[in-house]
Amino acid sequence: MQDIFCAGFRETDVREHNVEERKQWTMREDELFRVLREHGQEHIIEAYEKLDGAGREKLAAQVERIDWSIVDMAKQEETAQERGKLEPLSALEVSEIEKNRAKYEAAGLDAVRAGRVGAVLLAGGQGTRLGSDGPKGKYNIGLTKDMYIFERLICNLMEVTDKAGCFVPLYVMTSDKNNDETIAFFEEKDYFGYPRDFVKFFKQEMAPSVDFDGKLYMEAADSLSLSPNGNGGWFYSMAVTGVLKDVKARGVEWLNIFAVDNVLQRIADPVFVGATIDSGCVSGAKVVRKADPQEKIGVLCLEDGRPSIVEYYEMTDEIINSREANGELSYNFGVILNYLFRVDQLEKIMNDRMPVHVVEKKIPYINGSGALIKPESPNGYKFELLVLDMIHMFENCLSYEVVRDHEFAPIKNKTGVDSVESARALLQKNGVEL
Ligand code: UTP
Repeated sequence: MQDIFCAGFRETDVREHNVEERKQWTMREDELFRVLREHGQEHIIEAYEKLDGAGREKLAAQVERIDWSIVDMAKQEETAQERGKLEPLSALEVSEIEKNRAKYEAAGLDAVRAGRVGAVLLAGGQGTRLGSDGPKGKYNIGLTKDMYIFERLICNLMEVTDKAGCFVPLYVMTSDKNNDETIAFFEEKDYFGYPRDFVKFFKQEMAPSVDFDGKLYMEAADSLSLSPNGNGGWFYSMAVTGVLKDVKARGVEWLNIFAVDNVLQRIADPVFVGATIDSGCVSGAKVVRKADPQEKIGVLCLEDGRPSIVEYYEMTDEIINSREANGELSYNFGVILNYLFRVDQLEKIMNDRMPVHVVEKKIPYINGSGALIKPESPNGYKFELLVLDMIHMFENCLSYEVVRDHEFAPIKNKTGVDSVESARALLQKNGVEL
């Protein structure tokens, strides 16, 4: 079996879904020390030597899996990812969607009723900007009554399932950091009225994190500081945890991926599903029209002839400001983390390498005297895979425009832009009682 790579840790090829056969790593102690010294991590040897047998085994197992080509990226000067030749990708715009709404919706509802559509809630993030310790979905956005983010999302999904007259399987990605609390919350709230047989939780992979000098952080005497490896490894994690078997057993052909924090989004939206199937594309992305050319949003376009999402800071001013003959911006549509992917295509790419992003974050760690420190500001780097990089791995992607004020209310911060406040205002504007 081939080793593949999961944002900092090596992993096992899961093309055959051999979950039971995940590789056990074994490395001799002298080899372990040599590797740690070679990468300037002598403090881990010191920590190791203070441990008993079980502790040593645990820490060694973590170190053995480290993909040093990734972890050492933190020591290198950051270089912007080289982009290929960018070209605009036209979107299926709202006006066109409206003309064909009935046709798309009927096709989408057929697919939902045939059990061909599943939904994947990406809820493994740590929501550090919101500053709440638990799962972000537990956050209460209600004003006169309780309204948890998870609850709101289930309500959105149930608008579709009520219309279809059947349920959609919902796969919830969590991480080691929030899995138990997430499941306990769904249990406590009786799955917000959704049938529990249709909800499956799976944990994403974890990755090591380092300080600004590239030294590995530790979060306990016998453990490296581990954090979720970004939202890009979700399909790999579905395979490695065995949840993909459920997807296949149910005959799900399309997965709709969505973020936990956009409380206005449509989930398993039949119009989006129908339009994507009708387009013949193997993936689809919901996009919003840019508010202005400089808006800080990833834009869906073509890169070397394939779909791609390019961040605003990766574009030249010339590209950002270029316009079509009708006066519209050429690169006019930004993504909102709501995608549709064909399962057979996901299986083809699930072991392919994805770019790793080195991201500055606040990383809890233990200091020299063993006390757990929770820093107030970023103190190092995490290594993340991002779902937006997946788009470029597909042959084609339907760019599907939605009305921002109807479908995009992300909660990233407590106040200000993309906050609890702004999301509440948008929910109320859309007639949701809070
Ligand atoms: P964000 O990029 O907003 O990250 O995630 P975050 O961790 O939630 O928040 P900050 O940056 O610490 O404030 C976008 C979506 O991807 C999910 C999040 O749960 C959210 O739905 N995500 C992010 C994961 O599922 N796993 C991750 O490792 C990171």
